[in-house]
Amino acid sequence: MSHNAIMYDVEPHVAEIYDQVERCTDDMVLIRRLVGGRGPLHVLEPFCGTGRILIPLALDGHQLVGPDQARGMLARAREKIRQLPEGVQRRITLSEADVTREAWPQGFDLVVLGGNCFYELATPQEQEGCIVSAAASLDQGGHVYVDNDHMEGELDEAWRKPGVSQGFPTGTCADGTRVESTTETVWYDAPRRLARFRRRTQVTLPDGSVVEQEYIQQTHPVSTAEVQTWLESQSFIVERLYGDRAGNPYSETSERAIFWARKG
Ligand SMILES: C[S@@+](CC[C@H](N)C(=O)[O-])C[C@H]1O[C@@H](n2cnc3c(N)ncnc32)[C@H](O)[C@@H]1O
Repeated sequence: MSHNAIMYDVEPHVAEIYDQVERCTDDMVLIRRLVGGRGPLHVLEPFCGTGRILIPLALDGHQLVGPDQARGMLARAREKIRQLPEGVQRRITLSEADVTREAWPQGFDLVVLGGNCFYELATPQEQEGCIVSAAASLDQGGHVYVDNDHMEGELDEAWRKPGVSQGFPTGTCADGTRVESTTETVWYDAPRRLARFRRRTQVTLPDGSVVEQEYIQQTHPVSTAEVQTWLESQSFIVERLYGDRAGNPYSETSERAIFWARKG
């Protein structure tokens, strides 16, 4: 398991907190717009998590494969998938895999690298590796969707601040389980845009027992130029570059950098 994914697998309740916190649907609107009337498509969604993107695409009639390395996230996705009509369930295959270490399956029309998934990875090398793997997974003419926060220049000031603050996952589950987490920047390299955090998560179960985990996580916020270069070096043709999920064009002040690129 890559170091960074411990966050999602400290304890199974973390997946419930993820679903409480991450409720956005605006990226699904954009993905549906980009897919248009095409399909049914074979779609690969690495980092699929609890199925926020994967399940709606399967409901649309597409065939989905979702690798993720966190057992707790996959278990919650399975729980949600079990409640879907059987025909939809049959269109979804989940697998437990570290996508930075294992070969990605092939023969896809679309690879979705959504929801800031590059922020899960520790280095630009791992992120570029995802673009290389996406190219290998796609059939000729297939598309990759890459959606990240937009951060240019040196590492954002907010990422360099000393001190401990509340972090993800924090919240209360339906059964009363309390999840509390803190995060603290312990190292950064501003020009190389690398930051390392000490994270602590404490899960207090309804019977009073406590599960605790402390771990180090490293992140590299990608720049738009990096993603563009990685795509072009794999012969992708960038057909669209959006600055937000409403589909407005990308600019220097955009909140996001969202690529829609075709395997040339
Ligand atoms: C922020 S969640 C995103 C889930 C989903 N894509 C969404 O947008 O809601 C990130 C997911 O990436 C997974 N992940 C992180 N590093 C990974 C790796 N190296 N291999 C596979 N999955 C990974 C985590 O387990 C987690 O479920």
